[in-house]
Amino acid sequence: MSNEAKACIPPLAAPLRGVARVPGDKSISHRAVLFSAMAEGTSRLSGVLDSEDVRSSMRAVRALGAEVDLRPQPDGSLAGTVCGWGARGPAQPDGPIDCGNSGTTARLLMGMLAPWDVRVELTGDASLRTRPMRRITAPLMKMGARFEPAGRETLPITVCGSRGLRAVSYDAPMASAQLKTAVLLAGVYARGTTTLVEPSPSRNHTELMLPEFGVPTTAANRTASVTGPCVPRAAEVAVPGDPSSAAFLVCAAALLRGSDLVVEDVSLNTARIGFVRTLERMGADVELRHEGAEGKEPYGSIAVRFAEGLRGCEVLADKIASMVDEIPVLALVAAHARGVTVFREVGELRVKETDRLAAVVEGLALLGVDAWEDGNDLYVEGQPGLAVPPNAAFDSHCDHRLAMTWALAGLAGGVPVTVENFDSVKISYPRFLSDMQRLAQ
Ligand code: S3P
Repeated sequence: MSNEAKACIPPLAAPLRGVARVPGDKSISHRAVLFSAMAEGTSRLSGVLDSEDVRSSMRAVRALGAEVDLRPQPDGSLAGTVCGWGARGPAQPDGPIDCGNSGTTARLLMGMLAPWDVRVELTGDASLRTRPMRRITAPLMKMGARFEPAGRETLPITVCGSRGLRAVSYDAPMASAQLKTAVLLAGVYARGTTTLVEPSPSRNHTELMLPEFGVPTTAANRTASVTGPCVPRAAEVAVPGDPSSAAFLVCAAALLRGSDLVVEDVSLNTARIGFVRTLERMGADVELRHEGAEGKEPYGSIAVRFAEGLRGCEVLADKIASMVDEIPVLALVAAHARGVTVFREVGELRVKETDRLAAVVEGLALLGVDAWEDGNDLYVEGQPGLAVPPNAAFDSHCDHRLAMTWALAGLAGGVPVTVENFDSVKISYPRFLSDMQRLAQ
């Protein structure tokens, strides 16, 4: 990603109004591509997010022998087929697999590759090469998997796969859907039942999707299991819109006087829409309209209208996983609210695409807003009527969610701002800016 990509973001010309759609869910898109690659037969996918991160997963499974024929559609999504390696297993790739910026690609691949006779070096961009991987390799090693160098925390790491992994029961030290998924995917090929228990519920797209691929799966509140060995069977997956992308539109509408917006066809999975609950508690006028379920993923609309008088609130630790990627943009909303907002136990934000806790404190300081870390808690002291200083220069630290958060500070704040490395929005929501501008006419 270019380091020169500083963008000047003009303020929106009008409130956000009308009906919006957001691109396909990133987590579900990754899983659709990766699980299809593991499956016997040809899967049909639609609504797949066309973004750098998902393309990292597509490139990876191609290098491992899956046939990926996903093509751009008029609505900007990808649709088509993936023919998986099924019982043959993945092919030995010619060289290392570069997972780009995508933690989901790297971590899920570890679980997918560990049970096969392949040696695959996984690497990534500068950000991904700083992110913790021992949380994934440790449980996989308990199952009998090997990695080189053994016990290394960061990429590059070589997966030295071997058949005959053992099923395990693992107590995860943190609520992480990537960790849970890596263990369950390895468990698909282990004899017996592999169970993962987590401290609080993380997103459950894996547990919802694996049964569609014929994998015996059970799930309850904080625990999920698969029973193997099993060869996943091709499936059909329609990916709903991404609530994490919708969150930027919804938060913008909550901040911009006169806004009245409906975001349609978005995943309303309760493990993902914690941000809506938090906005409600802050006094925002936001409503969920459930319409159905795609596979087992519930979907529908989020309606939001500007309302006066946002107020700070306390977000408890066990709710954080349900809005883990939305904390930066919620912190921006909190900056405009009356009183202090506290997000409890958000230490995981330090190991996202960048240290998002430090970056939020830094960015809010540019707005003249006091925010601070206390242990693993994040505090934001809101300022009702906050006047965003013109030409504030934010740094996204090449993190897509920060790029959109700081762009929103200006878009909804009525003044131009600049955002360094704004082009990182390509990771999850390439059309973010044009969507915002179109809805504000
Ligand atoms: C994801 C899980 C979350 C989230 C990430 C995507 C996934 O990470 O932050 O953007 O698709 O499973 P953790 O599992 O590490 O919390």
